[in-house]
Amino acid sequence: MKSSMIIIIFIFLNLLAVVVRGEIPTTLEGPFVPVTVPLDDRFRGHAIDLPATDYRVQRRVNGFEPEQISVSLSASYDSVWISWITGEFQIGYDIKPLEPKSVGSIVRFGRLRFPMYREAMGSSLVYNQLYAFEGLQNYTSGIIHHVRLTGLKSDTLYYYRCGDPSIRAMSEIHFFRTMPISNPRSYPKRIAIVGDLGLTYNTTSTINHLISNNPNLVLLIGDVTYANLYLTNGTGSDCYSCSFSDTPIHETYQPRWDYWGRFMQPLVSKVPIMAIEGNHEIEEQAENQTFAAYSSRFAFPSEESGSSSTFYYSFNAGGIHFIMLGAYISYSKSGDQYKWLERDLANVDRSVTPWLVATWHPPWYNTYKAHYREAECMMVEMEELLYSYKVDIVFNGHVHAYERSNQVYNYTLDPCGPVYIMVGDGGNREKMAISHADEPGHCPKPSTIPDQYLGGFCAFNFTSGPAKGKEWYICSMVMAPESGHVQ
Ligand SMILES: *[C@@H]1O[C@H](CO)[C@@H](O)[C@H](O)[C@H]1NC(C)=O
Ligand SMILES: *[C@@H]1O[C@H](CO)[C@@H](O)[C@H](O)[C@H]1NC(C)=O
Ligand SMILES: *[C@@H]1O[C@H](CO)[C@@H](O)[C@H](O)[C@H]1NC(C)=O
Ligand SMILES: *[C@@H]1O[C@H](CO)[C@@H](O)[C@H](O)[C@H]1NC(C)=O
Ligand SMILES: *[C@@H]1O[C@H](CO)[C@@H](O)[C@H](O)[C@H]1NC(C)=O
Ligand SMILES: *[C@@H]1O[C@H](CO)[C@@H](O)[C@H](O)[C@H]1NC(C)=O
Ligand SMILES: [Fe+2]
Repeated sequence: MKSSMIIIIFIFLNLLAVVVRGEIPTTLEGPFVPVTVPLDDRFRGHAIDLPATDYRVQRRVNGFEPEQISVSLSASYDSVWISWITGEFQIGYDIKPLEPKSVGSIVRFGRLRFPMYREAMGSSLVYNQLYAFEGLQNYTSGIIHHVRLTGLKSDTLYYYRCGDPSIRAMSEIHFFRTMPISNPRSYPKRIAIVGDLGLTYNTTSTINHLISNNPNLVLLIGDVTYANLYLTNGTGSDCYSCSFSDTPIHETYQPRWDYWGRFMQPLVSKVPIMAIEGNHEIEEQAENQTFAAYSSRFAFPSEESGSSSTFYYSFNAGGIHFIMLGAYISYSKSGDQYKWLERDLANVDRSVTPWLVATWHPPWYNTYKAHYREAECMMVEMEELLYSYKVDIVFNGHVHAYERSNQVYNYTLDPCGPVYIMVGDGGNREKMAISHADEPGHCPKPSTIPDQYLGGFCAFNFTSGPAKGKEWYICSMVMAPESGHVQ
């Protein structure tokens, strides 16, 4: 089974143990000598996408009844976002966007199933994915609704129905539990962290495994649906760049997002999900627009956390302050994200949230050949700031493998540096990462690394940049305690 993909964190008062099926010592017992557990080669094969005919991805509502219902957190326990979609998407050569205002955005909620005496109103939008090229089909979404509930009590079960009562289109009754209050003795019991999920049969085993562990919160750290492994006519591939190399633009098949929203509803209508963007969410389209599906479909506590962007934000979950960062937009010291990060870090009160956890999609510390030192420009800009505020743990995805580092800063073991954890492959249809950069013949050539969306390339050769002068680092990382896969 693909159980290496999920890390469930159990937090007991001030002791944090990361458990990945079996006993792995905590970082406090380190630093450790690197250990690699090779992946069983039989797992290397491609995962198979759920087809449009699978019952879990079918539309099962009528008219303008809500579907793809999800809960997300706001910046603190007293508020959450409820999101859903009404109406049908269209894809083809003659699409007509729905009018977002034509369906109301209402949530009725309360601590009892009946009566649900409270009501909140929100807003709605529609997004388009357009391609100005002969033969390519355009997409327009159903009506996407986001409603923020406020004035909630901590660690409390709430029932809710969402929809538009004026047209008798309300959902069934769902429920969620708010986060505990923020203080050093108060934590969500279990947080599931997953990335690179996709929508394959292996994704379904990841999500089933996750559900069976009863998480209180799900973090999704980028690469969500892999809708961009498809052409607009619905033809998919396991490797887009090798299969459709002559298309005029990198196409997507946006209905995969709707399939994904339907598949996820049983989990995320109950358990809050917090998402941050990965490279598969870029989804370029006409007029250089990007990230339309990501930014439109998820709710983010951006305003509540002082960010004006869907690409970075922060929130509290009990005694943990989570910082979600964007790697595929500007991270430079003079940019908005960096300035926001400085303000956000300065506002953290460690006597209220002792744990400070940051996440973003592509890892800085990674010993695999895949994406080796790809995000180093972001690291050059931001590592010192995160270090100066003593971030405890960083979670990343992108590399389809699990890996945990010792505490490290500037390529050096450092008892005040964060622990970096790559959470492993969530089940998407691309291959898993197997080879390490320090294996004979596998050291990647720097020229093969740059990613055009990562805002530059800073590891020109493996003797410049932050690792300069650390000759051992040329395709070898001595600070990784255990790397590779746990089966
Ligand atoms: C992925 O799913 C297939 C069945 O669809 C299974 O044979 C395979 O072992 C799974 N891969 C992993 C890594 O769990
Ligand atoms: C899709 O939208 C683009 C941008 O508006 C437009 O140029 C193109 O003609 C549309 N394509 C189709 C097939 O309608
Ligand atoms: C989609 O387009 C590709 C490339 O033009 C083509 O090979 C494929 O047969 C098309 N698929 C369908 C279902 O039309
Ligand atoms: C899109 O980006 C390209 C390349 O950066 C640029 O040349 C072009 O002017 C842009 N188009 C629009 C509509 O902004
Ligand atoms: C990182 O280490 C290198 C040398 O090992 C040093 O030149 C550089 O100043 C350090 N950077 C920071 C931000 O401490
Ligand atoms: C490595 O990069 C540095 C700085 O860009 C450069 O001075 C040096 O010549 C490069 N070394 C090699 C072997 O390419
Ligand atoms: Fe990725």
